[in-house]
Amino acid sequence: MEPAPGVTVATPPVHGTTRGVLDTIGATPLVPLTGYLEVPDVALHLKLETANPGGSAKDRPALLMLEEARADGRLHAGSVVVESSSGNTGIGLAQVCRYYGLRCILVVDVRTQAANLAAMRALGADVEVVVPCGPDVDPLVARLERVAELVALLPEAFWPNQYANPANARAHELGTMAEIDAALDGQVDVLFVAVSSTGTLGGCLDRIAARGLRTEVVAVDAIGSVLFGGVPGPRLIPGLGAGREPALASGRRADRVIRVSDLDAVVGCRRVARTDALLVGGSAGGVLHAVRQRQHELAGATVVAVAADSGYRYLDTVFDDAWVQRTLGCSPTRLSALVGDGTVSRW
Ligand SMILES: Cc1ncc(COP(=O)(O)O)c(C=O)c1O
Repeated sequence: MEPAPGVTVATPPVHGTTRGVLDTIGATPLVPLTGYLEVPDVALHLKLETANPGGSAKDRPALLMLEEARADGRLHAGSVVVESSSGNTGIGLAQVCRYYGLRCILVVDVRTQAANLAAMRALGADVEVVVPCGPDVDPLVARLERVAELVALLPEAFWPNQYANPANARAHELGTMAEIDAALDGQVDVLFVAVSSTGTLGGCLDRIAARGLRTEVVAVDAIGSVLFGGVPGPRLIPGLGAGREPALASGRRADRVIRVSDLDAVVGCRRVARTDALLVGGSAGGVLHAVRQRQHELAGATVVAVAADSGYRYLDTVFDDAWVQRTLGCSPTRLSALVGDGTVSRW
């Protein structure tokens, strides 16, 4: 059959079943952080999800949600993938859709970083930015309403629904946590993860339970998130917290929840850039701030923190003094006092 106009049919690979870029998702590095904490005998490792080809942890669930749907026929040639995203899931889905040649419509909100919007568009997705119709409407709620409209409108629409799809958590159970487990031979005392859809948290909990590991799991949430009984309020860091309890969170309990502010996340990002030469994204900054808050309880422990995305997408927000001053009311002088100064020498 002749391909539709504008569609090029790729030559299948000669050997095996390789899926090109999609096969490079996962197997991310675990990086020891040696300068970040003041307490010396904490073995702190950062799971660098930035190393995924789409730049974040969300490449994993994006791939698995679509592959499972492809395998059971919910997704087929001609399907239109529609999803709500704060940025990274959108990039992951756009990546998979572009690879397979599917149309992808992503519903984001005004908090989505400009660089993420550009990445989704560069990968061929149609991006809709929703503006909540009032100050009391959470942007996530507004995004989900628009997704529901699109799904009702488009007969070929497929909504992966990252907030309820068990494949979201499964991707982290089989990927993120399995890799951490293998790299450290199951010897992880405390794991810190950011929560939004709670897929990462749920998947890690499942792996820990299945393997009978003694790992304590700390969910790092935003002040202003409604997860785990939180009080709704404004928050600015993408991927940290939720404005509506996702179905995936139902019945899920971390051993501990630590809530961080937007400024805490900025301080975590700035500090690890100073001490370990790593640019991590806002949610990872929040996670690292939570680790540092608890560092005195962690002496002698092996600790893993998951860095969901990279700081390179936050250069004009988290890493911009003028943005921090303008939006969080923190002056450069106060910020450097919070971050600490000086160079860590390992020469
Ligand atoms: C930057 C970032 N950090 C953390 C998370 C939270 O991960 P999860 O949705 O698995 O709870 C997300 C999710 O979108 C994210 O984009």
